[in-house]
Amino acid sequence: MVLEGIDGSGKTTIANMIIKGLSERGLKTLYTYEPTDSEVVTVLKTKYGDLRDPYIDALTFALDRLLHVKSKVLPALKQGYIVVCDRYYYSSVAYQGAMGAPIEWILEVNKWALKPHIAIYLDVDPAVAFKRKESMVSRFSEFEKLELQYRVREVYLRLVEMGLLVPVDASRDIREVYSDVERLVLGVIEKKTSSLASRGDL
Ligand code: TMP
Repeated sequence: MVLEGIDGSGKTTIANMIIKGLSERGLKTLYTYEPTDSEVVTVLKTKYGDLRDPYIDALTFALDRLLHVKSKVLPALKQGYIVVCDRYYYSSVAYQGAMGAPIEWILEVNKWALKPHIAIYLDVDPAVAFKRKESMVSRFSEFEKLELQYRVREVYLRLVEMGLLVPVDASRDIREVYSDVERLVLGVIEKKTSSLASRGDL
């Protein structure tokens, strides 16, 4: 499963709660995130910082993603882990799309990417998210500027309309948000378990 949302939407907090909840049910879980800590992204930031544009960023994040999926996500799925991924290719569509790269092109360069069983979008007004982050950290990078976050949210909402993301209202109390996310995730697990059972795989 994938969690998406603008900076400060609560993705990481919800991911941790989901991991805890699923582990308590005896399920094997793996928390992972994108961009990863790979050299690919470090080189982009340190060596090519001046050349950055949405196309270079989208391709760099796509390569980082391909390596991530092959080295970590697929092996975990094969071993029966439920993978909770904090950001995936929808982030490229939302962020690099908001910065000017065509959405269809971003989807195309990520076409190889494994489709998650569910991709949940934590929707929150950027001004609310900005306030939340402000209380946690005082560092704001280019990615975190409010105006950009509004454009990012617009693209996320388009992905919801396209049926690629399932929206959850993340402006509420974290327990309410978690309760909705948990219901969606358990629904997917239940559906998958019963379809495996009916095929005689379980
Ligand atoms: P993080 O704050 O969740 O670690 O993400 C770092 C930033 O990277 C965040 O502002 C979103 C951005 N990003 C993209 O622009 N494109 C991508 O494909 C990914 C995965 C992240």
